[in-house]
Amino acid sequence: MSESVNYIIFGASGDLSRRKLIPSLFNLYRKNRLPQSFQIIGVAGRPWSNEDFRRVSHESLLELTSIQASESEWNEFAGHLRYFSGDFNQPATYQMIKDALASLETQASNHIFYLATPPEYFLEIISGLAQTGQLEETHGWRRVVIEKPFGNDLESARALNESIHKVMHEDQVYRIDHYLGKETVQNILVARFANTIFEPLWNRNYIDSVQITVAETVGVETRGKYYDKAGVVRDMFQNHLLQLLTLVAMEPTSSYKADALRDEKMKVLSAIRPISAGQVRASTVRGQYRGYTEEPNVSPVSQTATFAAMRFYIDNWRWQGVPFYLRSGKKIAQKSSEIIIQFKTVPHRIFPMQKDFNASSNVLSLCLQPNEGIHLRFEAKVPGTLAETRSVKMDFAYQDEFGSNSLPDAYERLLLDVSAGDASLFTRADQTELSWQLIDPILQEWQGTYAPPLEVYEPGTWGPDASVRLLGDDNCEWIQVCGDQC
Ligand code: BG6
Repeated sequence: MSESVNYIIFGASGDLSRRKLIPSLFNLYRKNRLPQSFQIIGVAGRPWSNEDFRRVSHESLLELTSIQASESEWNEFAGHLRYFSGDFNQPATYQMIKDALASLETQASNHIFYLATPPEYFLEIISGLAQTGQLEETHGWRRVVIEKPFGNDLESARALNESIHKVMHEDQVYRIDHYLGKETVQNILVARFANTIFEPLWNRNYIDSVQITVAETVGVETRGKYYDKAGVVRDMFQNHLLQLLTLVAMEPTSSYKADALRDEKMKVLSAIRPISAGQVRASTVRGQYRGYTEEPNVSPVSQTATFAAMRFYIDNWRWQGVPFYLRSGKKIAQKSSEIIIQFKTVPHRIFPMQKDFNASSNVLSLCLQPNEGIHLRFEAKVPGTLAETRSVKMDFAYQDEFGSNSLPDAYERLLLDVSAGDASLFTRADQTELSWQLIDPILQEWQGTYAPPLEVYEPGTWGPDASVRLLGDDNCEWIQVCGDQC
């Protein structure tokens, strides 16, 4: 652990800071995992005092999180919080921060600049910091955490990377994808590479298809302005879903080092077959929940997709011919992030089967959230019958195994990793660009003649019927193993 770190949060009055960053830092503090000497400096436009910042952060902790904190614990932590009001467009703001840091600097000489602002400020802030010499690492290290969205297409992501690289090294940059900070997501690689039983089967010889679902019950809520421009593909596929896909599909690395992992992820992304213009209608589905156009700050004639499903193929030896079905949407029947590994059917059946026998019943389900765990579905003999079989499940639930509070928030892990200088769970510049390279043509086709129709779906369902047809065309269906029952 670094001995002294200052956390400078731009956008400190915003939702992310109040819901995630301050609560995570508070939790780390309580667990004694923050450096001995640290300050948290909030910067935002609101004309708050230190006291206002501390009070709002405390109220948010109580209202927006389930963290139980005693007054004394909070007060002790709050002594580390400071606030500076400033306009991100004004050079004076950065000089003010520099002076403030210099005056605070009793011991802390390492700085984490966290950009929890809307993306239009990213470059402004980075160049403000650069112009005031605050990214130079002459006295301690300087790291910049950049929230999503990182660009809104390939061109803008490239431009952003280029501008960033003019003022700092790639190893100072931490592009965050909070899915990678989730314990269950990290466990994908542990399940695959810390066990011998899965890996021999983890290929086209035994796996029939892979499904990745990230479903949410919430709608766009207060984020209409951002979401109506982004839509589900930029918001969820370009980052979270493609990250999950790379973790399922990548080759084992020789070590658990950031660049080794990121190199393997790049190989997967490079091998994904681009969805061609002619294929976009057959391979993608777009939907919008009924009522979306009446949401605040959403255009009444919006064509933005709030649900999408896609079929990808990975052109390499391990995965040739295995479809990867990805889907994500808002206002879906159930909050559920799940990866389904569907194994092939047995080559020859010797048992009399039940009429409703599910021919491909071997399923490994990785439940990312909620009901975190892993489930294996396989056939067992029904007792008392001659040789009838039925699907049964073997379960691992985090809650049973590690206790109900065993899963820290993703941001806790990610914040720790930034101060440890470990970028394994962050996205490298080339990966952001390659992800956009895959996504951009799909979004472009969605504007054109071959676009699949934008189907309206009812809130509380599993999205448009076309999503079912996407798999139906391959004699497949969406499988849900995690759920209330696990
Ligand atoms: C964010 C998206 O990145 O992830 C949101 O911008 C989405 O739209 C959220 O709701 C989902 O995260 P989680 O951790 O709740 O699955």
